[in-house]
Amino acid sequence: MATTDADPWFQTLFADRMGGANYGKGTEIYKFEKIKRAKRAALAAYPDRQLLDFGIGENDDMAPAQVREALKREVDRLENRGYADNGIQAYKDAVAEFMQREFQVSLNPTTEIVHAIGSKPAYAMMPAVFVNPGDVTLMTVPGYPVAGTHTRYYGGEVHRLPLLAENGFFPDLKGIPADIRKRAKLLVLNYPNSPTGKVATRDFYKQAIEFAHENQVIIVQDAAHIMLSYDDQPLSFLQVDGAKDVGVEVHSMSKGFNMIGWRLGWVCGHAKIVQAFADVKDNSDSGQFMAIQHAAAAALRDPQIPLQVRAKYKRRLAKLVAALKQVGFEASMPGGTYFLYVKSPVAAGDRSFANAEAASQFLITEQSVCCVPWDDAGPFLRFSVTYMAATEAEEDALMAETVSRLGKLQLRFA
Ligand SMILES: Cc1ncc(COP(=O)(O)O)c(C=O)c1O
Repeated sequence: MATTDADPWFQTLFADRMGGANYGKGTEIYKFEKIKRAKRAALAAYPDRQLLDFGIGENDDMAPAQVREALKREVDRLENRGYADNGIQAYKDAVAEFMQREFQVSLNPTTEIVHAIGSKPAYAMMPAVFVNPGDVTLMTVPGYPVAGTHTRYYGGEVHRLPLLAENGFFPDLKGIPADIRKRAKLLVLNYPNSPTGKVATRDFYKQAIEFAHENQVIIVQDAAHIMLSYDDQPLSFLQVDGAKDVGVEVHSMSKGFNMIGWRLGWVCGHAKIVQAFADVKDNSDSGQFMAIQHAAAAALRDPQIPLQVRAKYKRRLAKLVAALKQVGFEASMPGGTYFLYVKSPVAAGDRSFANAEAASQFLITEQSVCCVPWDDAGPFLRFSVTYMAATEAEEDALMAETVSRLGKLQLRFA
């Protein structure tokens, strides 16, 4: 009888992209698994100490009641039972109205908008549209890696564009080497940026559009956090002249509408790219449940929803900025997202940290304070304000506890 650790008969059949015959044998532990393990260890060591969890990157609220009511109604309609394929017109119409209302961007709902089952699958599919072996996708780091992973699956390469504090968390497009520019087909941007919290300027988007023309590159702008913009009105890439000529923007119902588990988003912009994406999509899935698309259309038509979500996270971020400053962090209000990205401490008392990961492990282990380290472009910690707290008083108590625990550690910064 085979033991559980024996290789299955198909061990040698795994594709190279999965690690080939070595699939499942690596010993490397990935960042999020390390965090999970440290959280478990902290809970086991201090069962009575509350875990202060700033590590979660998901909205803490469910979708608003009127959206859930809309779903309940739509679920009972016979006409919503079937395959949605590339999406229903009612949702695309609501998206077009939303883009007009929020950003004064006019889109043809039939040809310039297509839904996706969340924006994550859109990034998984977009490389299929453009990437041949040897082609390059330009990706900002730190960032959301899915388009890069799939670029590699298709035999393409990823060129990383670090988002450095000294460049204001914008990529240095001019510094991209000539041979990379030549082979580049996709430039994936993400503003408001996760995790840095930076929002784009019109000027930056203009430079990106020029870069796209000069180098014959398609821009895919990830707008997942767009409704969480705090300084000004949210800025869509498509508001900038010429954007639609060079690319698409990918939106999500997840963050701005508290619909993270509902799995819905859309790709909009250049009709030919939208069409090609829809072709790949049609060969990959059969569309999101129509009842969900109808409920999302109702959400998009209610301008109050993203305003309320934004106000809550803005308030929580302001409180967190104040709290972290008290214990020595250099923190200021981010332009967008529900993340606060701060320089990681180099030491706590006489204990020094080699990188942000070491610092974050220390915070979890010593004080059950969980956050996410990023070491891709300098050592930074990402604190999310998506923690569970039912009232403002609970938020305040959580902040006081955070200050008290981190204050004990004598954190030192470079
Ligand atoms: C920057 C960014 N893009 C895209 C996504 C994917 O969002 P969804 O698939 O829920 O639309 C996320 C989710 O965490 C994100 O942070």
